[in-house]
Amino acid sequence: MKNKRSSQWFQTPGYHGMARRAWLRSEGYPADVFDGKPIVGICNSWSELNNCNAHLREVAAAVKRGVLAAGGIPLEFPTISLGEMFMLPTTMMFRNLMAMDVEESIRANPMDAVVLLCGCDKTTPAQLMGAASADVPAIVVPGGPMLAGTFQGQRLGSGTDGRKLFDLYRTGKLNDEEWSEVEGCIARTSGHCTVMGTASTMTSLAEALGMTLPGSASIPAPDSRRMANAELSGRAAVDLIERNLTPSRILTREAFENAITVLMALGGSTNAVVHLIAIAGRVGIRLTLDDFDRIARKTPCIVNVKPSGEYLMEDLFHAGGVPAVMNRIAGLLHGDCVTVNGKSMGDNVARTVSQDDKVIRQLSAEGGIAILYGNLAPDGAVIKVTAASAELLKHRGRAYVFETRDQMMAEIDRDDLPVDRNSILVMRNCGPKGAPGFPEWGHIPMPKKLLQEGVTDMVRISDARMSGTSFGTVVLHVAPESAVGGPLAVVQTGDEITLDVEARKLELAISPQEMEARLSRFIAPKRQYERGYGRLFLDHVTQAHLGCDFDFLMAEVTK
Ligand code: FES
Repeated sequence: MKNKRSSQWFQTPGYHGMARRAWLRSEGYPADVFDGKPIVGICNSWSELNNCNAHLREVAAAVKRGVLAAGGIPLEFPTISLGEMFMLPTTMMFRNLMAMDVEESIRANPMDAVVLLCGCDKTTPAQLMGAASADVPAIVVPGGPMLAGTFQGQRLGSGTDGRKLFDLYRTGKLNDEEWSEVEGCIARTSGHCTVMGTASTMTSLAEALGMTLPGSASIPAPDSRRMANAELSGRAAVDLIERNLTPSRILTREAFENAITVLMALGGSTNAVVHLIAIAGRVGIRLTLDDFDRIARKTPCIVNVKPSGEYLMEDLFHAGGVPAVMNRIAGLLHGDCVTVNGKSMGDNVARTVSQDDKVIRQLSAEGGIAILYGNLAPDGAVIKVTAASAELLKHRGRAYVFETRDQMMAEIDRDDLPVDRNSILVMRNCGPKGAPGFPEWGHIPMPKKLLQEGVTDMVRISDARMSGTSFGTVVLHVAPESAVGGPLAVVQTGDEITLDVEARKLELAISPQEMEARLSRFIAPKRQYERGYGRLFLDHVTQAHLGCDFDFLMAEVTK
């Protein structure tokens, strides 16, 4: 191919062309290595501070084999990584920072294509956002999910089962020794969480968008086929250059509709709503919450994987993975969307039928996520219906309000907490600007006194997010958030709230006049950052329904 992007660095006459070749030859390359060969960057989010991505150096080695076999030159480079379990206040605060790192690393450097190595929750959307803005041919290689642990004969899904077992530990039904045993086996291999949490959801959606080779998302991290997939992706990256198949040609509105459809079929993470809106915003596509609700209403949830179902990602892999899911709902998809292997999505999934109808089977007639509106959430809120309790999907109860997460944590185990099974827990100041960073605090733990009475779920409402591995009747992403004066800011303990998922309603039972009077008395909380990245974040992060990207990174809406 003529006029490759990297030629601007290496095939230029004069001093700079020589100097760039010389400096790269210092890494041990012979002179002919730059004779027009395509250069493939490998954008690696490897980090020992991100266990889910800690095996990505080995994955990168396999990608390099593929690039070399196809006649390209692989050059691996690091980006920041976002370890979900470690970063404070929350990885979400840094998703946009990583996206900027990815975008500028691609744009500033000599590469004709880039392979994006990701896994843990925010690393996949951050890389997709950055690559979409840079618009250099790109392919995603997920690190894959970890293998299941086993505790007392029970297979454990990281995240989901840990939370359930923690409730047993909190209430004295597991002892310290047993709890330590859980700790030793719940995350026993490399790879990301193995339930349909945010990591599995986002890698599956990267596949649904057409940004991975078919079948990439669900291959377990320790499986030899993970490395084979990486090698094939390296070869495919070289082909992308020939085809000039850039992200903007793959990430069309139809591709995003496919991703939303697959999200609903998976019973995937509510976080994907925020991430897909943000990725689409990078290519000038304005996805709205209504797009999600419209597609949810016509898409069955068909993936029986925790937290919505019973199985794990490893089981979905053996059942045929995302291609088998897409094959099952092919009539709801845009089959002609182009993907990174140059074939259409329809062609990619046409022959992959489910190998296990216990894992790929209908759990509900509608998708896993519903969008709620009402005077409590004028710009929308999100609930994961498939992880909620059916009897609570229509519920009216009195609010018990926590002003902050700290207050909630201090009070939730009080024996005299004045709540019962019909109460609705409300927590505010947990949104993008309020927390800040939009952390996964929305899964408010069940009050200990109710757990002891055998109550395992109740309605909980906040402007936070929730881990994709969590479950319960939990309303999230309430927008506008309380810290900017959304109505959540003025709910008072004792107010009645109605949740009606069928009607898509979230209503605070006060009059419009009372709402206006309360809002007029709203005082914004003190800003938590006055310098550095925190200040940039507070100044520019958008609300949940707009994807929480920085306003200056979003492309002009064209589609
Ligand atoms: Fe990384 Fe769950 S902690 S995916």
